[in-house]
Amino acid sequence: MFLNKKISRILFYALAALFLLPIYFIFKDENDETSSTSNSVFNMMPMSMRDNSFNEKNMKEDPFVLVDLVFESCTSFAFFESCSDNINNIYKELIEITGDDKIIQSLQVNKIEKDLYARTSYFTSLYSYEIKLSFDIASRSSIPAIDKFYIFNNEEYENERDESAKGLNKNFGKSKKLPFEIFVEADGVTDLSTLKSMGYIYAGYGLWYKKSTSYRDSLSSVNFFFGIGFSRYTSGWSLVNPYPLMINVKNKIPMGFRINFNDYRKKDLHKYDKEVFVYFKRQRRPSIPQVKLTTDDHGKFKIVQLADLHLSTGYGKCLDPFPPLDYPIKNCLADELTLDFVANVLVLEKPDLVVLTGDQIYGEESFDSETALLKILNLIIRFRIPYALVFGNHDDELASMSRQQLMDMVEKLPYSVSHSGPEDVSGVGNYEVVVEDVNGNNSIIIYMLDSHARAPGKAVGYDWFKDDQKEFISNLSNAHADTPNAIKLAFFHIPLFEYRNIDKSEKGSYQGTHRESVTSSNINSGMFHVLKSAGVRLVSVGHDHCNDFCFTNEDVHLCYGGGAGFGGYAGYPGFYRTIRVFSINTSNGHISTWKRLSIDPHNIVDPFTYLN
Ligand SMILES: *[C@@H]1O[C@H](CO)[C@@H](O)[C@H](O)[C@H]1NC(C)=O
Ligand SMILES: *[C@@H]1O[C@H](CO)[C@@H](O)[C@H](O)[C@H]1NC(C)=O
Ligand SMILES: *[C@@H]1O[C@H](CO)[C@@H](O)[C@H](O)[C@H]1NC(C)=O
Repeated sequence: MFLNKKISRILFYALAALFLLPIYFIFKDENDETSSTSNSVFNMMPMSMRDNSFNEKNMKEDPFVLVDLVFESCTSFAFFESCSDNINNIYKELIEITGDDKIIQSLQVNKIEKDLYARTSYFTSLYSYEIKLSFDIASRSSIPAIDKFYIFNNEEYENERDESAKGLNKNFGKSKKLPFEIFVEADGVTDLSTLKSMGYIYAGYGLWYKKSTSYRDSLSSVNFFFGIGFSRYTSGWSLVNPYPLMINVKNKIPMGFRINFNDYRKKDLHKYDKEVFVYFKRQRRPSIPQVKLTTDDHGKFKIVQLADLHLSTGYGKCLDPFPPLDYPIKNCLADELTLDFVANVLVLEKPDLVVLTGDQIYGEESFDSETALLKILNLIIRFRIPYALVFGNHDDELASMSRQQLMDMVEKLPYSVSHSGPEDVSGVGNYEVVVEDVNGNNSIIIYMLDSHARAPGKAVGYDWFKDDQKEFISNLSNAHADTPNAIKLAFFHIPLFEYRNIDKSEKGSYQGTHRESVTSSNINSGMFHVLKSAGVRLVSVGHDHCNDFCFTNEDVHLCYGGGAGFGGYAGYPGFYRTIRVFSINTSNGHISTWKRLSIDPHNIVDPFTYLN
């Protein structure tokens, strides 16, 4: 019974995809590519830093076009399991009827691994599937491809959903009518009948799509991000329109872009954390710019270190706000504050490289890791600044994506110089970043390492660097024997055992503040001496949010970035969220460092220069 309904619905879509005559409608297309609200930090950026690389010149073709999008809910009880995931097979069987081998071979059914119910239901999840064909096959066989999405979530939607999605998603929304009405007036659509007369087909949950065989503007992928906080920075993905799907909104008014950030202090916006917004990519889109890191003509290079951003899906809950808030903490939007702080510092510093030293994602608050991580990466991409990232203990803890999945995603993003590193080296994200001088010689070598998470088994505390990681650094160091003068740095998340050697009693032996104990591994991995023999002059880490000092141990400078995220703990007296900056003069070998604090980002704090 259930399967029959499912098959008939999918059959309907497959037939629509394959045989329905395309309906041509060409109308203005200005709204759907906009990607930031008017009050975003984006508007503060100097023009030169805005991402205007999205022009025809840089367009590249994606080999696939989207021919269908299907929602599938999936229920699991102890004795009953409907999570079939066999959409793939059903599509294949249907297309086999057509007898066209080329179509069958080119068909891709891609499950988007995001529970659109956002873990709000114990037994039921909702997934979406992209059905794709290669552009060549689709165009040769005149199979229409999706070139428009539309979200129309007024009250009529509920009835429509019941009609076209019978048998599926039964657990959603008991009430037939939603207690509100939203008219989206764009593309001349003011009501449902207009939308239908334009040839839109209902996909479910307020989402409509339209196909054509012109392929000029075909879409190649769809994605879902949670909470409007994400929508402020969406480079790479375009928002369909500023209204959420009718999922996780139940009896509340979905907020969409109508949130007024100026009076968030008076409201608890966290109840909108799980709203689902639809994004897409077109088949023709900008190619990813090649990144090459070089010092400037004077041999200078500047790095901003972002430590412990602790971003969430949704707006992010504030932890240990300081200075104390003059409004309820439940109204505080951690990620908004974090991103504002970072954007301010990037505008002020204009660094050549951003290094993210782990705990970008607060795993247990991130039912969709991609939403959390792209918040910060999209911001950096908008500034067109290359970035290198490693993971901390929270990035994949109780989160929706593993370290490897996260790195696979990051490696493909614009301006990323991050890598998974060799498979036979422990962890994900052991790699080097090389900065050249104007002659093309290596002038700065940066080692990025995975310092892992909790210690394995019964061991107390945090994990330690493994022998293969030490060998990896030694190997890289040997490979650079011909450039002994390059300045070498290392970044990772958890401090080395040697950070415990800081002597608080000796004034002037360190800069910054030592507020909490050093939570390195209890086992000394020996990595300090490997880095030292490799010629590393400075190491900087995160992890202990409220330590923000630098000191020198056996001629190696050991620094903390200081926690930057408002969603991370900060409960030690007097700690403002902190971002550390390094400025390297390769002409004389000096490394200068200073901090900027959230309380007044315009001020430089604890500046210090390490001479050669
Ligand atoms: C750097 O590059 C220049 C020009 O290619 C070359 O002459 C010089 O020897 C290089 N310096 C080092 C230290 O390798
Ligand atoms: C280091 O180099 C040696 C010799 O080339 C090689 O056998 C070994 O696999 C390398 N180790 C790592 C961890 O890269
Ligand atoms: C960098 O070092 C060179 C060589 O000593 C010096 O002339 C230059 O002033 C330094 N740049 C800065 C910004 O300190």
